[in-house]
Amino acid sequence: MRKPLVAGNWKMNGSRDAAQDLIAGIRRGFEAGVSADVAICPPFVYLTQVGGLLDGSDIALGGQNVSQHESGAYTGEVAPAMLADVGCEYVILGHSERRSYYGEDDALVADKVVAAHAAGLKPILCVGETLDQREADRTEAVVASQLDALLNSAEGLAALKTGVIAYEPVWAIGTGKTASPQQAQDMHAFIRQRVAAKDAELGAKIRILYGGSVKGNNAAELFAMADIDGGLIGGASLQVDEFLTICQAAQ
Ligand code: PGA
Repeated sequence: MRKPLVAGNWKMNGSRDAAQDLIAGIRRGFEAGVSADVAICPPFVYLTQVGGLLDGSDIALGGQNVSQHESGAYTGEVAPAMLADVGCEYVILGHSERRSYYGEDDALVADKVVAAHAAGLKPILCVGETLDQREADRTEAVVASQLDALLNSAEGLAALKTGVIAYEPVWAIGTGKTASPQQAQDMHAFIRQRVAAKDAELGAKIRILYGGSVKGNNAAELFAMADIDGGLIGGASLQVDEFLTICQAAQ
């Protein structure tokens, strides 16, 4: 039985004051009881503050990106060990915004996933196709190659054993267009089967989150699908009530 996970990806949003209000609101809501795993992924500069605000709760902390390097002369970068050092349990990697705006390709994302795992972090590997790719009937081929960058190496496979996969169709991110529960389920089943072909136990056990315009009013029907084990939430993770409704839908 896979325990659902809901991860809030704040992206490049927030401030010290906003973080304070958001976490206070979420913690109040959690007093009513949430049985899913929940993680909050704020921008790097707020990790320590948010980590402090989450102290004593069951809510985990995560980063949104990390360097593939261990340490050294990489101006502007943040090392995996640093995320672990400030209390992160998770790190989002290969998000489509990183892939498209910062040129991260499958090989670089795979290196980051392996480096994050080596530092004791749980990688959240994002995969997903663009609208053009879907319309050209290349959805499975694109997602397969994003997965294979990890599945085809021993270190990649080992890193996924502590990790999570997030299927995020790029055309659904921040657009208000959600994949239908059946469209999402079909891809989640494809992903699970691809992982299982390499490692049957991992295929059965790995959590696969759906991301892309998940809101309070559509989360329950998505999470009801057999291979959807929670969500990676962007915009709605910045609103206390929406985020709490989504967390409650993931029981
Ligand atoms: P969204 O973002 O929920 O705002 O669509 C999801 C994501 O990018 O992880």
